Amino acid sequence: MTMIAPSILSADFARLGREIRDVEQGGADWLHVDVMDGLFVPNISIGLPVVQSIRKATDMFLDVHLMIVEPLRYVRRFCEAGADMVTVHVEADTPENITAALETVHGCGKLAGIVLKPATPAEAAEPWLPLADMVLVMTVEPGFGGQKFMADMLPKIRTLRRRIDQVHPACRLEADGGVDVSTAPLLKEAGCGVLVAGSAVFGKADRGKAIRSIRDAR
Ligand code: DX5
Ligand code: ZN
Repeated sequence: MTMIAPSILSADFARLGREIRDVEQGGADWLHVDVMDGLFVPNISIGLPVVQSIRKATDMFLDVHLMIVEPLRYVRRFCEAGADMVTVHVEADTPENITAALETVHGCGKLAGIVLKPATPAEAAEPWLPLADMVLVMTVEPGFGGQKFMADMLPKIRTLRRRIDQVHPACRLEADGGVDVSTAPLLKEAGCGVLVAGSAVFGKADRGKAIRSIRDAR
């Protein structure tokens, strides 16, 4: 069964607790939290204090996507703030520091993953496949919700599915960006087990119905 992780980037931040309860009661599997620093991506979203507050407001699994440069500087603090999974972009630092970031997250007892921007090939994930608990493939340029799905990411996802099955079958494969009822079937077919959806969930009045329709879309 495909897991759905609503991205709070498209939620109303002035009533965030209510928004989170809505998707929790609506049957969301995870909550996806987008952290942006205005350097790695041309946008600024939320940071540590918000993750701390979310942690107090819900028991949901918090999937924290760090779109920040040199994430090693902050991964421990995001774990302490309440993240269950922390993902870091492979483009955001040296390979050594990306490995150190994943090991730091594991040292905190949390799950750790890597993220690939659209221009980054599947092969770039290779060094971390044995170590990572998840590979997240961006299906839009990171930075903003509501963008158009990049169907040309599907071959990359298929390649990663094959390599994960060979190297580390427990590693999850997640897609983020432009996921809705029409693109979800393509991602499932390509082998994604976790789908992030921002505007396709929070942009709908009935969040439970939106989550179910993405999960069930064929
Ligand atoms: C974009 C973020 C996404 C974003 C997805 O940088 O990583 O998680 O919220 O939004 P939608 O689902 O609207 O494309
Ligand atoms: Zn994201």
